[in-house]
Amino acid sequence: MHAHVTFMVIGSLIAVGALGTVMTMAVISVLRIKTDDDQPAARRPQGEQLWRPRPPRQSKSRQPAVLPVRPTAAARRTAATRRKAGRRIDMLPADASVTFAAERAAAGIDEVLAALDEDLIGLAPVKRKVQEIASLLLVDRARNRFGLDAPRPNLHMCFTGPPGTGKTTVALRMGELLHRLGYLEQGQMVHAMRDDLVGEFIGHTAPRTRRVLTKAMGGVLFIDEAYALYRPADPQDYGQEAIEILLQVMENERDQLVVILAGYADRMDEFFTSNPGMGSRVAHHLDFAAYELDELVSIGRQMLGRSHYYLSADAEEAFRDFLTGQIRQPRFANARSVRNELERARLRHAHRLAADSDRHWTRDDLMRLEPSDVLLGADLTLATE
Ligand SMILES: Nc1ncnc2c1ncn2[C@@H]1O[C@H](COP(=O)(O)OP(=O)(O)OP(=O)(O)O)[C@@H](O)[C@H]1O
Ligand SMILES: [Mg+2]
Repeated sequence: MHAHVTFMVIGSLIAVGALGTVMTMAVISVLRIKTDDDQPAARRPQGEQLWRPRPPRQSKSRQPAVLPVRPTAAARRTAATRRKAGRRIDMLPADASVTFAAERAAAGIDEVLAALDEDLIGLAPVKRKVQEIASLLLVDRARNRFGLDAPRPNLHMCFTGPPGTGKTTVALRMGELLHRLGYLEQGQMVHAMRDDLVGEFIGHTAPRTRRVLTKAMGGVLFIDEAYALYRPADPQDYGQEAIEILLQVMENERDQLVVILAGYADRMDEFFTSNPGMGSRVAHHLDFAAYELDELVSIGRQMLGRSHYYLSADAEEAFRDFLTGQIRQPRFANARSVRNELERARLRHAHRLAADSDRHWTRDDLMRLEPSDVLLGADLTLATE
């Protein structure tokens, strides 16, 4: 009897040992398969994944063999959910309630929205859209606290409008907002144009695009003049390669990156018609209209006020006349032109004061711009003196 039991125990131990060995070998072979996936693109079969996120940083105590293993999409999603939860760990019971004033305060977004509102004159439709996106994410956060999971909303965007209408400025704020709402891990904004993404020679485009994407992970990738990526007339163009990588990342790495495509409205429409995949990945369109004359004058007043300058009543009138002429010029760049013109006015003001070296100038003189400062040399056809 004893011999029989002993035999059975030894038999079981051998079986468990053999099973363990088989499992260990299976794990090693899985790791190997995954590690192979880390080979350079040239050695991978065609049609493979074009973008691969950087492996997460590992602490020294981890097994090096595991380092190159790419986390699965599901694992990354879980990690993102955990990170999100890490910022707001207090789950709520089913019978609790929330207020959105408290939710906004907890996320700290009121100051970002207030700064956006105060710093940028006009742009009411853009500000409304930003508020809507913030509300969407706030409600998402609140639902998460009740355990109501839903797929993360797609936040790739398109900003259309003429130059100098605040697109880059709003994109920067958007990064900060999405970070505070827990949607983006870091919220930095990486600005890129065609040349940052597309190479001139074969094999240059993918590494360039990947480098930019790596920098932008966890934040916003702002692609200015995005339509320049697509040049159908040029058969040697590598823009399509960059577009394909972007398409894949916009789909697969939505947890990590928000892409904002920016440019003139009509050219962006053409771009989306030729690249429907890109169009379908963009969830929010924000239209930045050219500023009205009154808005441009207010923008100018605000810019001067921040630097402790102001326009005398006559100077403001002259500035208004000057802008009326400029606004119709093809190269007029809205708020940027206002800023540039006021910088020139500041230079003329300084020269006017410094040139009269024995005169006593007051504090007010040092702050006040006169019509000659605004107009002298700006556009002599419009000058009134
Ligand atoms: N509504 C506004 N109120 C105050 N300042 C503004 C406003 N819009 C733009 N500006 C200022 O004008 C300058 C240009 O803005 P920005 O670079 O964001 O424009 P843009 O639309 O990105 O231009 P471009 O298309 O040429 O890149 C910045 O200094 C910005 O702060
Ligand atoms: Mg810009």
